[in-house]
This record gives sequence, C-alpha cells and structure tokens, in this order.
Amino acid sequence: MRVWALFFACLYLNIQGQHHTSTWNSINNGLLHNSAEAIVTDIYGVTWISTKDGVRSIHWGGNLNENDLVTTNGGMNALSFCLMALGKPGDTIAIESPCYPGILQLANGLGLKVLELPTHPTTGIEIDALKKAIPKIDLCLLIPNFNSPLGSCMPDENKKEIVKILSEHNIPLIEDDVYGDLYFGSVRPKCCKSFDKDGNVLYCSSISKTLAPGYRVGWIAPGKYKEKILKLKLLHSTSSISIVNEAVANFLKSGKYEKHLQQLRKTLQVNYQNYVQTIAESFPEGTKTSRPQGGLSLWVEFDKKIRTTELYDLAIKQNISIAPGRMFTFQDQFENCMRLCIGLPWSEDTQTKLRQVGNLARKI
Ligand SMILES: Cc1ncc(COP(=O)(O)O)c(C=O)c1O
Repeated sequence: MRVWALFFACLYLNIQGQHHTSTWNSINNGLLHNSAEAIVTDIYGVTWISTKDGVRSIHWGGNLNENDLVTTNGGMNALSFCLMALGKPGDTIAIESPCYPGILQLANGLGLKVLELPTHPTTGIEIDALKKAIPKIDLCLLIPNFNSPLGSCMPDENKKEIVKILSEHNIPLIEDDVYGDLYFGSVRPKCCKSFDKDGNVLYCSSISKTLAPGYRVGWIAPGKYKEKILKLKLLHSTSSISIVNEAVANFLKSGKYEKHLQQLRKTLQVNYQNYVQTIAESFPEGTKTSRPQGGLSLWVEFDKKIRTTELYDLAIKQNISIAPGRMFTFQDQFENCMRLCIGLPWSEDTQTKLRQVGNLARKI
C-alpha cells in the first residue's frame, strides 16, 4: 500500500508494502465472516473494541476495560487531543530527545515550550534528567516502547519510577505506544499505563504501525482525564468513523490480527538484521547504529564530519530519501545522525539503495 511507503521519510524505495495488502484482504474476510457480531460504535466511538478478544489486543498490563477507552482518528489525533486537553500556550512539555518530528511540530503548533531531555538509545529517557526538570514542566510525553527515532525501550523499573514521580507531582504523562506490539523478543514490553494507579497516564496508540496507517484507527485510555478528552472529541470530530472501526474490531475478534502481528514481527526482525549487516559492510568506518529490540526505527550515527543534511541532498538526487537527525530536534544537535525505517520490505533494491547511501556518505 502506498500510504505505508509514504509514511516514513526514511528510505523511499518505491516498494509496495506486501503484508499490508494481504492485511486488507484479511480485514475484508474478517468483516464478512463476523458481520453477525458487528460491534456498534457509540457517539464517542468507545465500544468498537468491547469484545473480549478485541480488548485483549490493546490491554497490556491488564488494568483497562472498554469504558476506559476513547477512539480517535489515529495516534496523532490521540496525542493532539491529550495536548489540547491538558496544555495551554506557554506550558512546558518534557519529551525524549531525539523525538518524532510530528510530536515536536504538534507541541510547537499548540504554543507549548518543548524541553528535550537526553535519551539513551537502549533504555530511553534519562530519569535523573527528568527528575531535575520536574519543577519546570507541566506535561510529559514519552514513547517508552521502541521509540522513534532511537528504537529505545525503557526497562520496567524506569517506567514504574517515572509514573510514580509524575503522579506525585500531578504532571500528566502522555504515553505514545504505537510501536509496543512490534517486539522482536518473545514478550511484549509493558506500558507505563500498567503501572498507573491513579489515572495520571493517558495511554495513546493506533493500528497505523501494525496494520494500516490509512484507516486512521487509534485510541486513548485517558485515565482521570477522560471527561476532558471526551468533550474535546465531541467538539472536534463528534464521533469516530464506525465502518472502519467495525472492520478493524471484527479483524481483531477473528484472531487474524494476532497471526498477522506474529508474521510482521518476524519480518521486521529479519529486516533489522539485514539493515544492520548491510550498514556494517558498506557504511564508512566508525558508523554506529542503535540496537532496537522492536519497532520500525534504526538510528545511525556517523563520524562527526558527516552532515546528514548534506547526505540528504546527495541521496535525493538518486531518488533516495533519508531522514536527517536535524528533523528530530529543535536544538543544534544530531547533525551527523539519521533515522532509517526498517518497515519497508527487504529486497535487492533496498539493499542496493542502502549501499548507495553508504557510498555517498564515504564521499563527504
Ligand atoms: C512515535 C509516533 N507517534 C505517533 C505517530 C502517528 O501515528 P498515526 O499514524 O496513528 O497517527 C507516529 C507516526 O509515525 C509515530 O512515529
């Protein structure tokens, strides 16, 4: 599906996302076979995932039920409802650095001051930095599982501690978990929401990274902020798009989503290994890559003298698009870094283009 290929400005290689095409067929089948049990979406779109199997898919940590959920038009819409409901212009929001550009732009667009906190490529945001920032911040937004662009995944103890600290200071934690289902290992990482005792975590996710970005199906578990979110949703979009939600709900119920995820996770892990190996073989000496245990992002750090904005200019002439590190910050940093997306199907063409990027980097 073209939307999938367009979704990341990483390596644009004109490849069709095969697993998403087959997903479309599977969804249609799911809809047909289960139409007698179709789930009705209410005005807030709260009920589409109300079957046992459906809820299970997004239920990580086990402390949610269908009444805790508000559906949205994708993950970005979920994040924007949270920021609009809880922030006002001039407030400060703490985020990971580097950070997904959509979040930077959204926060900036809403007049929030962005505080970019140091983030480890393996373990995520540095807790000490967050603790120091507490007196200055009004909100916190994190991607604890396989964040974009680093691919980091916070250990459970860090998640637990962060949930506790932010709750003690009454600072809402917006958790973006769009990548949580894409783990390479045998166990799904927990989300911060599973440590949330008083409803201070607003858990946001979508099917965009796992199934289809174009369906715009997402949700929030807003905890104690549910009323605020519902009011905003009513104001901005009245309800979710029930036909798509029903199709996805039936797909979840059919059990095909779990099978699809198993296959997708395997594919991504193989892609990841192929990317890392090709980078090791063909990128300039001294190039480092992050070592994500899931997700779609690989963070590449070149020698300091290689500016990825320059690399972008060279690569785009060969019809290859990379995501330079500068896209992921408002500060003067990450000039020698870039993000690659491992979500595109691996092929000879992908490998050739990746090698071309390496060759171009050698010339800088
Ligand atoms: C970290 C992160 N959050 C949210 C989104 C947006 O998700 P959606 O397509 O469901 O709006 C993206 C998309 O790339 C993302 O990388």
